[in-house]
Amino acid sequence: MPDEYNVLIVDDQEDTRRNVARLLQFENDINVVGTARTGQDAINQTVALDPDVVLMDINMPDMDGIEATELIQQQAPISQIVILSVQGDTNYMRRAMLAGARDFLTKPPKSDELVSVIRRAGAKAKAIRSDVQYIGRGTGSLKDPRGTTIQLSGLGKIVAVYSPKGGVGSTTIATNLAVTLHSVETPAVIVDGSLEFGDVQVFLNERGRTSIIDLTPNAEQLDAELVEDVVLHHKDSGIDIVSAPPNPIDAEQVKGSDFVKVLQFLVRLYSYVIVDTHSYLSDVTIDTLDACDLMVMVSSQDIPSIINTRSMLQLLVNSLGVQKNKILLVMNRFDKQIAISPDKVSHNLGHKVASVIVEDKEVVVPGVNRGVPFMLGEGKSKEIGKGILELVGKVREQLSKLEQNQVPDA
Ligand SMILES: Nc1ncnc2c1ncn2[C@@H]1O[C@H](COP(=O)(O)OP(=O)(O)O)[C@@H](O)[C@H]1O
Ligand SMILES: [Mg+2]
Repeated sequence: MPDEYNVLIVDDQEDTRRNVARLLQFENDINVVGTARTGQDAINQTVALDPDVVLMDINMPDMDGIEATELIQQQAPISQIVILSVQGDTNYMRRAMLAGARDFLTKPPKSDELVSVIRRAGAKAKAIRSDVQYIGRGTGSLKDPRGTTIQLSGLGKIVAVYSPKGGVGSTTIATNLAVTLHSVETPAVIVDGSLEFGDVQVFLNERGRTSIIDLTPNAEQLDAELVEDVVLHHKDSGIDIVSAPPNPIDAEQVKGSDFVKVLQFLVRLYSYVIVDTHSYLSDVTIDTLDACDLMVMVSSQDIPSIINTRSMLQLLVNSLGVQKNKILLVMNRFDKQIAISPDKVSHNLGHKVASVIVEDKEVVVPGVNRGVPFMLGEGKSKEIGKGILELVGKVREQLSKLEQNQVPDA
């Protein structure tokens, strides 16, 4: 399905608003989500409705379109502004563009011109959205393609990687997912939720004495400095790590509610908070699955794993009321020689397998033993790496769909 663009029409004349809306009414990919008749109204509605495109008049009673454009740029930097004006004055247009307008049209606009300008500006808004959606507050700035720094107040997302059965590859997938999602603009932290025998540190070949138990007792009053003291920095990838306690005995002092408070603080500092949860349904695991924005559920191709996955899906969706589209199902260690296909599994579980990751011991095992996720090396270009890249794409896409409250195709 092609992208759809939401448009806000700003004009003080009712006739103009109506005429523009009429020109757009037969375009399936363009939705007029609101109209505004003053500059202030335009700003308020842009902030509230988050349209992809704002069609902006120049002359309005309270302020002109340039001033409104400037203010919208500051408060809602993703919405793209197209100036619509009778004034063909090039100086004026230049000022409008400097104020941050994306494009301009003269009134009355021709239908085809209007539509193509909206599509172009709308595509730009979508591109920025997908790039920057998950910028955490602490690092929340980004240069858009025009070189403007965009400050975003959005919080990051919690992605829990979970498998109802141990040994099917949760940690392998969580670590590779984290290093691939991470970028300077969208920083990631991985939190080891296998508190007793967590091995995220080992998978990433980092060692430290600090761990989650340095954060959970202060769950009510965390600050960025404390987090900085506790996380380990993974040099090869740039991600940060919150380790499991060095002594397994200490795991039991971590309460699920505190663990979740830590996660909810971390989304202020990181765009992606990846949690490698433990299969055992402790309150830490249950609270994490409840609090996460998205769950990556890992199954392997063997029958016991699939049966466990089915029970867990039923428990989550039917008993705990988790939204089905919050769960991305991944089939790991896939071997096409085996007759159990992703389609069959999707059918059997009543839940679509979102990504398939092949079995490849030659790539995975040396990576695990050296403590280097295969996505940082040649594995990235192998079939297994393509599976992870596909999963990363699905994670981003589903998070963005869930955020926009659309009905995702789960
Ligand atoms: N796609 C894969 N191909 C080959 N080996 C894999 C794959 N995924 C995981 N493994 C291996 O399976 C073992 C268990 O993986 P791990 O990520 O520790 O599982 P879990 O965290 O679910 O217990 C590891 O030794 C890892 O090397
Ligand atoms: Mg594990």
